Amino acid sequence: MCYLSLFNNDTEIISLRNVNRVQNVVVVIVCRRKMMTQVPKVRLAGGLEVCRILNGMWQVSGAHGPVDQTKAVQAMQAYVNAGLTTFDMADIYGPAEEIFGHFNSQVKSKASGDALQLLQGLTKWVPRPGPMDRKVVEKALQRSMSRMQVESLDCVQFHWWDYRDRRYLEALGHLSDLQQDGLIRELSLTNFDTQRLEEISNRGIRISSNQVQYSLIDQRPAAKMEAFCLSHGIQLLTYGTLAGGLLSERYLGKEEPTGRAELSNASLSKYKNVIDSWGGWGLFQELLVALDTVAKHHSCSIANVATRYVLDRPVVGGVIVGCRLGIAGAEHIEDSLRSCRPELALTPGDLRPVEDVLQRSRDLMSLIGDCGDEYRK
Ligand SMILES: NC(=O)c1ccc[n+]([C@@H]2O[C@H](COP(=O)([O-])OP(=O)(O)OC[C@H]3O[C@@H](n4cnc5c(N)ncnc54)[C@H](OP(=O)(O)O)[C@@H]3O)[C@@H](O)[C@H]2O)c1
Repeated sequence: MCYLSLFNNDTEIISLRNVNRVQNVVVVIVCRRKMMTQVPKVRLAGGLEVCRILNGMWQVSGAHGPVDQTKAVQAMQAYVNAGLTTFDMADIYGPAEEIFGHFNSQVKSKASGDALQLLQGLTKWVPRPGPMDRKVVEKALQRSMSRMQVESLDCVQFHWWDYRDRRYLEALGHLSDLQQDGLIRELSLTNFDTQRLEEISNRGIRISSNQVQYSLIDQRPAAKMEAFCLSHGIQLLTYGTLAGGLLSERYLGKEEPTGRAELSNASLSKYKNVIDSWGGWGLFQELLVALDTVAKHHSCSIANVATRYVLDRPVVGGVIVGCRLGIAGAEHIEDSLRSCRPELALTPGDLRPVEDVLQRSRDLMSLIGDCGDEYRK
């Protein structure tokens, strides 16, 4: 007797259609569907549940090449179908909030009941220097709400360019009041350092999360930020975790990319600069080799190891993975899902050769400063 199986572990049987016996071969015709990987979630201080892998929308700002908004909206469905329902954007990411808004209105028109809460849209408010009275703050939030087609904002992550201008405290006071009024669920920060995070918390302003750069090559949050967040129930949402895609097989054994043709989008050039400060292309290649060994051992990708390394850090609520929405072949959904599978457990033994490379890198904390200081030089 012989049984034929054409399926892998990612599918589940939903119905058995026919069973035939042909010359001692049992032919089972089944209808199978792709099993949705359970994407782990984390609850922020205000109660909002977000996926631990978030879809980053800086990639539709225009800084990563031209964007077809219709295709970008269509592309979002595949992420949601896979369980990746949390999107990260900003008021300054070109049409990102509008793209989310169009998709959100499509989802709402089809959904009912609980499904109306299907998406989580995290935005940022990145104001130019200027007056920070309540009207200014409220106007900024209303603009995001109207673009995102929502009645209130799931999460506002506040950015500030210059700490010498102390009006960030005024702005945060109004944001906190507007949160009490129900306009915002989670009040968060992006690119704030530990000193200011402490100052803000000491004023009684409840911060849910701080979005910062955190990756194998930029581990500045581990120096001070993590301990403070741990003691104050603040989560870190991380970006740059894949170094714009440089932390992947695509760059393993490759010549150093230079110039605009090779560093063809804003993420690649941003994180190539980080690599240069961190230790240079030679050391980075050694890191990729060490990561590739770990990846092969776990039958996963370098991106999975790089993501999981950061996801496993204390207080990291989620890793934001940039998505070039609507660009054919730029979708990494299946691979991203592997990063959060329970069976991908990175052991100290796995990571020893990786740590050996990291030990030979420069200390970015002393070179650049604490989280976000790169935006304030
Ligand atoms: N708060 C801030 O100041 C700030 C700053 C930067 C970013 N962010 C946020 O973080 C998000 C992430 O952006 P990022 O610039 O830091 O980029 P990133 O997430 O480090 O890299 C994204 C790129 O990595 C590649 N990639 C993704 N998954 C992959 C996989 N499984 N295997 C191989 N390659 C993979 C893709 O490149 P290809 O498209 O070329 O395939 C993708 O465009 C942004 O969208 C934004 O939401 C925030």
